[in-house]
Amino acid sequence: MKHRTTLVLGVALIGLGLAGMTAVWLLGSPAAPSAPRGGFASLGQQIYFTGADAAGPIPRAGGPSHMASARACVGCHGATGTGGSFGMMRNFEVPDIRYSALTSPHPEDDPPTPAWTDADIARAIRDGVEPNGESLDAFMPRWDMTDDDMNAVIAYLKELG
Ligand code: HEC
Repeated sequence: MKHRTTLVLGVALIGLGLAGMTAVWLLGSPAAPSAPRGGFASLGQQIYFTGADAAGPIPRAGGPSHMASARACVGCHGATGTGGSFGMMRNFEVPDIRYSALTSPHPEDDPPTPAWTDADIARAIRDGVEPNGESLDAFMPRWDMTDDDMNAVIAYLKELG
């Protein structure tokens, strides 16, 4: 009898735990910084996460054609901007595009990478050209964005670090 009561109590507690977990799952994890829902804090953040501004999706060329329309910056460079290895059929090295990373020189690279200016960053995003004149891989889309959008995106890259 005593064992039975303990068992019932145990099952009840497990049930309570599961209900609690379900409730947390239904309500969503609290304040996940990587996935802002609803309103964005800035235009730059909105573009980074959606690839669209108030006028709609920003026109772009290149990128992985079958999913080019779906991917915003976050889809490749990640929520923190740090990039990483990405891809299923082919592996891509996606660079760290936090402002601090782009604007610090890398003398250890061969050839050495200079510190990028805002104009360099804009050229890479719009035309896919690096400061040294080399083309970025076509996997990085070329974004036909307005100056306002570009300024907002660069401001957001600063926020990322
Ligand atoms: C489909 C994947 C993809 C998307 C979407 C994407 N990028 Fe990229 N991006 C890349 C890859 C891959 C590279 C590196 C290409 C190379 O090294 O040749 C890159 C390079 C860059 C670079 C140059 C950095 C460096 O060190 O060479 C910048 C700046 C950049 N991306 C910004 C952005 C921004 C801003 C957005 C959104 C508006 C964006 N990217 C969207 C994949 C992507």
